[in-house]
Amino acid sequence: MKVLVLGSGGREHALCRAFARDPAVDALVCAPGNAGTAELAASPRVDLGDPDAVARLAAATGADLTVVGPEAPLVAGVVDELRLRDLPAFGPDAAAARLEGSKAFAKEVMRAADVPTAAGRDHTVVESALADLDEFGPPYVVKYDGLAGGKGVTVTDDRDAAVAAVRASLSSPGDRVVIEEFLDGPEVSLFTVVTAAGAIVPLLPAQDHKRVGDGDTGPNTGGMGAYTPLTWAPDRLTDEIVRTVVAPTVAEMAWRGTPFTGLLYTGLALTSRGLRVVEFNVRFGDPEVQAILALLETPLTQVLTAATAPVWRPGAAVTVVLAAAGYPENPRLGDPIGGLAAAAAGPGVDVLHAGTVQDADGTVRSAGGRVLSVTATGPDLGSARGSAYEAIGRIQLAGSHYRTDIGRGKESKAS
Ligand code: AMP
Ligand code: GLY
Repeated sequence: MKVLVLGSGGREHALCRAFARDPAVDALVCAPGNAGTAELAASPRVDLGDPDAVARLAAATGADLTVVGPEAPLVAGVVDELRLRDLPAFGPDAAAARLEGSKAFAKEVMRAADVPTAAGRDHTVVESALADLDEFGPPYVVKYDGLAGGKGVTVTDDRDAAVAAVRASLSSPGDRVVIEEFLDGPEVSLFTVVTAAGAIVPLLPAQDHKRVGDGDTGPNTGGMGAYTPLTWAPDRLTDEIVRTVVAPTVAEMAWRGTPFTGLLYTGLALTSRGLRVVEFNVRFGDPEVQAILALLETPLTQVLTAATAPVWRPGAAVTVVLAAAGYPENPRLGDPIGGLAAAAAGPGVDVLHAGTVQDADGTVRSAGGRVLSVTATGPDLGSARGSAYEAIGRIQLAGSHYRTDIGRGKESKAS
């Protein structure tokens, strides 16, 4: 079969790698792709925000399956357009993608489905939002109600910073902001494949490290590294999340007439009072999926269709993101990258591209805030982490930075 992957990040490179290993896949296209996906797949240009253009590309490609990587095209209705034309797609339609597209909507669904989440309220005027800030108290949690590339959430002890975030979130007519209680405890990402027939297939739980700096310091990012499995997590955590969160949410969406299909990503905090949902996303998480797919034995097309339960390789996988100078505030782009082959030569190492482009002379350059993600597998977390860090140390990119504490586990808190 022919698979079209939409997107251009480390997630899409990891998806392409997994599809390239799948015996059912004989042709791969990744649009628009990056310098890494271009080694595996044709990379036609396309505007992912234009559902009609995407559907025309899928039709022209003859794709038997289109997998949408990022959230924005899902929220914009790319899958609706593909389905209108009878083109098979993996991902939710726009109505179901609101679970990620609107935090206020996600809260409403969770309330209706009795899913445990942070107490919170949404606001359209500054005064009532500020009153709520003081009611919840510090640490303050302020969320812009829309897509913001992982940067729409402010968690801070500083009231002035929280007030500034409220004002920034309500700067245009129609804006909404969610104020919620702070959730303490380690964070977990659980991805579940949800089919039209109602099957829910969980993948391995993983942990992301969202803050830019070691020890969870500095601003939030799209994600600086991830690992799996979570050796410290309680037994039967996956079952509990599926039972208390995913199944009721899927049922509630179906009951509303907007059934969810595709990949439901539940971000949770394991608090002292039990698990609480931090957010829903409607696509694979980046960089968690890089680590998860590194351990997947089962062909990916079978997992996405829930044709069989996934089988996992024993051991662990760690992904460390290499970010450009100035990321997340103001990433510097266009610098040459060296040492890629030396890094990829390490044991169990996969160098996945994110923000990269290749010049005609073969030089690979940075073209995004998160430039590369280096994934390594090993018999345990310690060895996977060692291999990942040894590999990333071989890469040269002026001013680049990465966290040195990915995969240390329980120390990672939601704060
Ligand atoms: P979100 O976009 O909702 O996932 O939020 C991004 C990140 O902000 C999360 O992964 C958490 O690290 C943090 N965060 C969001 N909501 C809360 C909360 N209620 N309490 C503590 N941290 C939070
Ligand atoms: N790793 C966080 C995200 O993909 O949203």
